[in-house]
Amino acid sequence: MHNAIIEAKAVEKSYPQPDGTRIQVVGVTDLAIEPGKIVALLGPSGCGKSTLLRMLSGLSQPSSGEILWHGKQLNGQVPNVAIVFQSFALFPWLTVLQNVEAPLEARGIAPGERRKRALRTLDTVGLDGFETAYPKELSGGMKQRVGFARALVVEPEVLFMDEPFSALDVLTAENLRGELLELWLGKKMPTSAIFIVTHNIEESVTLADRIIVLGRNPARVRTDFNVRLQHPRDRKSTRFVELVDYIYKVMTEPDVEHALPDAEATAEIVLPPGGLEKALHKQPAPVRTVRYQMLPHARVGGVAGLMELLHDKGGREDLFRLSEELVMDVEDLLPIVEAGALLGFATLKEGDVQITPQGITFADADIQRRKELFRHAALEHVTILKQIDSVLKRKSDHSIADEFFHDILDEHFAEDEVQRQFETAMNWGRYAEIFDYDRESGRIVQSEAAPLETIDLNQPSTPSPKF
Ligand SMILES: Nc1ncnc2c1ncn2[C@@H]1O[C@H](COP(=O)(O)OP(=O)(O)OP(=O)(O)O)[C@@H](O)[C@H]1O
Ligand SMILES: [Mg+2]
Repeated sequence: MHNAIIEAKAVEKSYPQPDGTRIQVVGVTDLAIEPGKIVALLGPSGCGKSTLLRMLSGLSQPSSGEILWHGKQLNGQVPNVAIVFQSFALFPWLTVLQNVEAPLEARGIAPGERRKRALRTLDTVGLDGFETAYPKELSGGMKQRVGFARALVVEPEVLFMDEPFSALDVLTAENLRGELLELWLGKKMPTSAIFIVTHNIEESVTLADRIIVLGRNPARVRTDFNVRLQHPRDRKSTRFVELVDYIYKVMTEPDVEHALPDAEATAEIVLPPGGLEKALHKQPAPVRTVRYQMLPHARVGGVAGLMELLHDKGGREDLFRLSEELVMDVEDLLPIVEAGALLGFATLKEGDVQITPQGITFADADIQRRKELFRHAALEHVTILKQIDSVLKRKSDHSIADEFFHDILDEHFAEDEVQRQFETAMNWGRYAEIFDYDRESGRIVQSEAAPLETIDLNQPSTPSPKF
């Protein structure tokens, strides 16, 4: 694409693991950012969105492939971009004005000029009057306004935002989203393109001219299309709802190819769903990809609550409606639904969650019986819990160091994901009374509540020194 500002050509990112192997986080990806558009990047938690953003913005180097800026390699030059972070990332010891001046100072702009530009930008984002305040005196929404001002003051050609509204309450987020759109549509922003990472489907359909959805392990583009809805967009309109539904299905049913809604399908499709993936298969995979079962990051309480609610509602509900009712982002609800599905308590089809007979039994059961049903389901469907259970049964002292499972997970996941997988497995396994976990000693011990027949009585009773 000749007028692209940024082009990613076959970029890929992998990280070294402690054992010397590498884990691929972003699979080979081609992507171009053109002027005049807000591009939204969606994808499940931990799939590699921030990693892709960092590569596009020049903040980090791809492991292979190249990033071109106006068709040329950067060769060490820093592109004219700015990034807004979810965490605001303000300097607490500087005033609002000084925070906004800081990037100009870093670029060597003279004091008079930088003050003038900072004040003008603060005015644009509605922060006049707060120049001398310190970040700690500001609410989250005001802090993020400073974040915007600090990004806009450098007049970035591309404004990158990594979940800029996620740390804010619903109303504040809504308000800031509206202001951002107003500045953009009113051409009051000195930027040619916005690239926003979000985990909020509605947010993407509200703001974006183009939406890209990544899948995970490793991240790959699952769909990439232009949105043709006019602003302001009506969230209740059929086309809006259809698009939200479509994206939702792409995210929840990664193995199925979904058709874009008609109105959007007639637009220039940047890439047909699944098209890139096919094209990429000719690329040899440079590193192994994750195959081990990945647990959705959900706690037992959430799964139980969802089953009760579904049962109450007659067994079936549209996921989007459910999320509205619970005032939860679909993406926060999704891991809970995925956990229910993994355990065989629910199924997920075409955007509807349906409780299974096992789910109904679970929802109807009392506390103790629920634990049993959960244990049964977990030992049938959850790989890591099966492994832990089987090791504990074989060990004479019915206990094992948690490192053993960290080592197993380390082979399949990146470092923070190992931690999340482990914590989820501990939460589920303890609840199911498959084992107890003593965090201090780091030992996983077969639960006394486990039924006798699951304990192998033929093992010698002396503890074996090492598994
Ligand atoms: N420096 C690093 N070293 C090793 N692994 C990393 C590093 N940075 C990120 N990862 C791993 O890469 C994967 C993708 O991370 P990334 O932060 O890009 O995902 P994300 O989609 O932005 O997630 P989230 O929704 O949580 O913001 C994660 O599994 C993460 O653990
Ligand atoms: Mg991220």
